Amino acid sequence: MRVLVTGGAGYIGSHTLVELLGQGHEACVVDSYDNGSPIALDRVRGLTNGHLEAHEADIRDTARLTAIATAFAPDAVIHFAGLKAVGESVARPVDYYDVNVTGTLSLMRAMAAAGCGRIIFSSSATVYGEPEYLPYDEAHPLRPTSVYGQTKRMAEQILTDWAAADPAATVMLLRYFNPVGAHASGRIGEDPHDIPNNLMPYLAQVATGQRDRLVIHGDDYDTPDGTGVRDYIHVVDLARAHVAALDRAAGVTGAEVYNIGTGRGTSVREMVAAFSRAVGRALPVTVGPRRPGDIAAMEADCSLARQMLGWQAQYGIDDMARSLWVWQSANPEGYRGAAGESRASQTPSSEIRPKP
Ligand code: UFG
Repeated sequence: MRVLVTGGAGYIGSHTLVELLGQGHEACVVDSYDNGSPIALDRVRGLTNGHLEAHEADIRDTARLTAIATAFAPDAVIHFAGLKAVGESVARPVDYYDVNVTGTLSLMRAMAAAGCGRIIFSSSATVYGEPEYLPYDEAHPLRPTSVYGQTKRMAEQILTDWAAADPAATVMLLRYFNPVGAHASGRIGEDPHDIPNNLMPYLAQVATGQRDRLVIHGDDYDTPDGTGVRDYIHVVDLARAHVAALDRAAGVTGAEVYNIGTGRGTSVREMVAAFSRAVGRALPVTVGPRRPGDIAAMEADCSLARQMLGWQAQYGIDDMARSLWVWQSANPEGYRGAAGESRASQTPSSEIRPKP
């Protein structure tokens, strides 16, 4: 299929491109490079064969998006582009609603103009909010506790309403749990631009000496070792879930929602132990207070994805830890450390700008 990938130069987008191209799909990336890198796309090209084109564009620029989509004529869209920091979303609500909700509407208009009615949407387990029961299944009530979570819930609702209004449309909402790790080659991985908020990228920077120590945000939760429990999923497994959803989207209509995790919870201390094994030494860790807004534990019920998409996660936490270390040790500065590499990835803007 011809797949338009928004946010394809980001962490999950770049890993998904490798799997898509590996399965013979063709891809056109639209990315603002706010939180992604054209170098990631060059490296995806180095790992794969096949058609990959890229355009620098903001998801809210409907005219430009329409020109790109009309020229590429996609069979489907995978929509990753968006802002994703929970804490920042509470401080910058207008930006988060604008990029994540207005941006999704902008994309839908471009899709309509290009005659494309199939979309796979990058959603998040954060739409569930405080668990009423665990593991979360897809029928769990949606009560997100952050602005970020609200934007994902709203975009899900908009896409669901759109599918209801068009009998030919297909929407796949993928609710990710906690993606970690990197491609086995160590060529692509997560590259946070600021101080990492998330556990594993932070820990990776502790291992390279860029951060002094990891602070565990509370060890007095009602969990087996007192630290927070999450359902960590290898980013390559997550990437493959998109390919499985794309295959299914080709044969069905309507809106479907899937949890994408492993179904296994792992504590902060267990993740630290796994990463220390991968690095080969103990890493400095202290315990601090709880982080406001954190919940004690979450795990996914992934049986629906297994049943309907024929997909399930293959990798465990040691694979996640090892692959993260391969990436981080080879790229301690992320893609900034590779600034001299070719940046020939973009199609010149003039080729796809609409005529005035
Ligand atoms: N943690 C620490 N120290 C740190 C960072 C995190 O102890 O420096 C702990 C947290 O308290 C939590 C666990 O590690 O118990 C995981 O925290 P992350 O920040 O890595 O991930 P979250 O589960 O908080 O959030 C992630 C994404 C969200 C997404 C959510 C969905 O960041 O975007 O998963 O479940 F919404």
